Amino acid sequence: MCGIVGYVGKQNCTDVLINSLSRLEYRGYDSAGIAVFENGEIKVVKSKGRLTDLSARMETEGRPSGNVGIGHTRWATHGEPSDVNSHPHSGADVTLVHNGIIENYKKLKEFLIREGKEFKSETDTEVVAQLISYYYNGDPVEAIIKASKDIEGSFALGVVFRDFTDTIFALRRESPLIVGVGEDESFIASDVPAILQYTRNYYLLEPNEIAVLSPYSTKIYDQHYQAIEKELKTADWDMDAAEKQGYEHFMLKEIHEQPTAIKTTIASRITDGLPDLEECGITCEKLNSFRNIFIVACGTAMHAGVVGKYVIEKLARVPVVVDIASEFRYREPIVGDGDLVIIISQSGETADSLAALRLAKENGAKTLAIVNAKGSSIAREADMLMYTHAGPEIAVASTKAYMVQIAVMYLFAFELALAKGKISEDECKKLVSGLQNIPDVISGMLEDIDDSQYAAASLVNADSLLYIGRGLDYALSMEGSLKLKEISYIHSESYAAGELKHGTISLISENMPVIAVVTQPELAQKTVSNIKEVKARGAYVILVCSASITVDEDAYDLKLVVPDTDPLLMPMPAVVPLQLIAYYTSVLRGNDVDKPRNLAKSVTVE
Ligand code: G6P
Repeated sequence: MCGIVGYVGKQNCTDVLINSLSRLEYRGYDSAGIAVFENGEIKVVKSKGRLTDLSARMETEGRPSGNVGIGHTRWATHGEPSDVNSHPHSGADVTLVHNGIIENYKKLKEFLIREGKEFKSETDTEVVAQLISYYYNGDPVEAIIKASKDIEGSFALGVVFRDFTDTIFALRRESPLIVGVGEDESFIASDVPAILQYTRNYYLLEPNEIAVLSPYSTKIYDQHYQAIEKELKTADWDMDAAEKQGYEHFMLKEIHEQPTAIKTTIASRITDGLPDLEECGITCEKLNSFRNIFIVACGTAMHAGVVGKYVIEKLARVPVVVDIASEFRYREPIVGDGDLVIIISQSGETADSLAALRLAKENGAKTLAIVNAKGSSIAREADMLMYTHAGPEIAVASTKAYMVQIAVMYLFAFELALAKGKISEDECKKLVSGLQNIPDVISGMLEDIDDSQYAAASLVNADSLLYIGRGLDYALSMEGSLKLKEISYIHSESYAAGELKHGTISLISENMPVIAVVTQPELAQKTVSNIKEVKARGAYVILVCSASITVDEDAYDLKLVVPDTDPLLMPMPAVVPLQLIAYYTSVLRGNDVDKPRNLAKSVTVE
């Protein structure tokens, strides 16, 4: 989703803004722009397309030269991606960039038109620029506060005023925004990686706080215009974490970072061979009090929840409902006192997941957040919190974040099963030790990825394919399928293998490759029968299966072997070839792997 940056200092502002925006490209965008004070005048340059298009535009229109400015990458919501709809947008005295959605923009626009204002774009953002201008009477903060009271929705803003040539202003309601503090310079940004090359110190703006940044001072006010003191945070990510480090794409780097991410995520949560989640606020007493569990999330995080459901139900015998956040929030879920709602989110800012969390709390349920981004909204608002320690995930297609979300789901399931007396300490220790061994298993697999490349080569011209599996393998095939369609643009579905013959098998022909996942010994032969059914109908079959499961050679065309671990833990190693198949298929099709079309990394609008 949209990315905001801003700079005040002594450096060439245009260079800083473009550099910082390039660190936010992972969020997904379709146009970009900057506004820089040049000789006391605001100079705006914007363009549909990528940052390279913006740079090309600056070649013809001139590259703004100055030390103060704001920048933006836009992911279109109101109005198509176009030069005119790109940010920044301006009113008479104000130029601004915006992330989020102004829900009542139509009403506000009608009002402003009645007041004689004219609009150039179709965006909700221009309405905010005009509204702040309307209220502006010499005091920028006052105008921002007045306008913000009229605005409904979620937003973060970076604003410059014509009369204040050395200052930028920022306001945050729902959408994230940080204020970076360097030596005689300061920054605003939607996310930490944007400023890491300049400073690691930052303030996290809370909803409705306003920041005023000039070269020598950074002031933050609340919505009543009272100055407030905030804790200066230090990012524990370094630049290396946000760089490709020799990998061709962030996605490939992040796939390779999975063993370390798992180790870092689980290490501090294991004591004497048993899960120890007390630092996350999870105690035996609490665990015993939950009747039902809901896991609510979006996209890949939701798929991690599906794995969690299988594991929790199997081990702890507690019913688990997995819900898509955008469905959960509007279906009047029967959730309340005595229930636990687990929200899984890499970014911690996904609008629907945040709304689901708030709804669960309103209904009296206890909430647990499993989140990667430190200090994000979901992390801050949940009753209990388990951070995943994947580090920054830059590729839009999530890999290492999914892996550690699953790792955390396992620890949680082990602890719950133990608390409920469904497994003994010895059984639990065995499971934990199996989990601790997974990073080595994955490292070994990543040493030889030829088979995945070969599988990708066999899929590169496919128009459509199916992923099938049963039980945990079905949960996994959902993620494999999503990964492939996200970045290869090949249509793909995942299907419970046993359900195929109730309709979907009619699609099978030699033009419909099938990827079958078989890692669960007790279900293996059932899935193998389904594989034979599709093979008999002409499908090209790629089999992803555990080393110890035997499948007749004539049932598949290509086999990718996953080393054996406890079957319950198989989703962790078995997702790796699925990630690699998606990655290499995308590479072979010449796609923009890390920034697939139409997708955003952090979906801060519903
Ligand atoms: C977007 C991303 C997905 C991600 C989903 C949920 O769709 O492209 O990769 O799984 O949002 O994001 P979250 O940050 O809540 O995990």
